[in-house]
Amino acid sequence: MLNKKSIQEIDVESRKVLLRVDFNVPLDENGAITDDRRIREALPTIRYLREHNAKVVLMSHLGRPKGKFNIKYSLKPVAERLSEKLGAEVRLAGDVIGESVLEMVDSLKEGDVMLLENVRFYEEEEKNDKEFSRKLASLGDIYVNDAFGTAHRAHATTAGIAEFLPSAVGFLIKKELDIMGKALTAPERPFVAILGGAKVSDKIGVIENLLDKVDTLLIGGGMSYTFFKAMGYEIGKSILEADKVELAGKILKKAETKGVKLLLPVDTTVAAEFSNEAPLKTVPAAMIPKDQMGMDIGENTSRIFAEIVKNAKTVVWNGPMGVFEMPNFAKGTLALAKAMSECTGTTIIGGGDSAAAIEQMGFADKMTHISTGGGASLKFLEGKVLPGIDAIDDK
Ligand code: 3PG
Repeated sequence: MLNKKSIQEIDVESRKVLLRVDFNVPLDENGAITDDRRIREALPTIRYLREHNAKVVLMSHLGRPKGKFNIKYSLKPVAERLSEKLGAEVRLAGDVIGESVLEMVDSLKEGDVMLLENVRFYEEEEKNDKEFSRKLASLGDIYVNDAFGTAHRAHATTAGIAEFLPSAVGFLIKKELDIMGKALTAPERPFVAILGGAKVSDKIGVIENLLDKVDTLLIGGGMSYTFFKAMGYEIGKSILEADKVELAGKILKKAETKGVKLLLPVDTTVAAEFSNEAPLKTVPAAMIPKDQMGMDIGENTSRIFAEIVKNAKTVVWNGPMGVFEMPNFAKGTLALAKAMSECTGTTIIGGGDSAAAIEQMGFADKMTHISTGGGASLKFLEGKVLPGIDAIDDK
């Protein structure tokens, strides 16, 4: 389906391969990596290149250092974790371009792996500066992009550089596109999408695109209150995007016209304060008290949604059902995660918060696929072209 060249279709033997990966991993306050999924998911491509005697130069960003060197965003912890996982030393360059980097690249032997410092230490990266791309390209012979998580950004290391070198995609990008692409183009049915999270505005493109493809759309999380408002319900102090109420109403009508089952929560767990300690109760969706706010889907909704998910042949989930960071309001998200784990069809987690929730709740290995992209998988589910993939040579 993907008409882009893959690394298996190019000769990498003894070549210097510039491999863009997404090592933008979460760090705790001490700078320790809290989730290394993105590092683990990059291993198949790195191992393949080593086994085929390439000299590997890895490139990644970490966080948003705004174009300036900042030790807080150094890739040092990543180089260490990657060395452990790979069972081979991955040397970290002190810079991204320049003499010292050139020397380090020149010293690479076949099968060696090195990592450039955070590419966002240069403002030229996010500006997709041509000269910067040219300098980076001069470090290698071939460019491979495997940074699915950053493929929605048209930056120097994700897109610009491809202009100067023969290019291909790695195994992770291929896997992400194969699995999510099949769900969008030829899903086994029933095809169910679950969308949650705080804002309708973040998901509007996905909702519009999926309405043409799914049999059932389940909506939960903070954005359901904007839909409730459109239906004329009292939503108390619940999160609301007032300027999206009209749009929510239009979506409801559109779903009806298209014959798509769009289900919203039938009950909601509410509290007076945004706090795990706040006393809670579950009320019918249309009857949220004025002084309370919706924090999670209720038990009846969990049961109804779980039943639909278990019987689906394809499920795509993006966005939690409630404030899952607070244990008292994680029950709805947990119920759906459990239902996904019991579903025998294809189960796909569209990255971001829902991926974190699935990991945290211990269901990660029960899913068919957990995307490494947050923003990137949303853009993909919107049906948009991803610049980082578009830039790669066609087959
Ligand atoms: C992500 O975590 O979504 C990617 O690494 C992209 O990061 P960005 O949103 O800072 O561009």
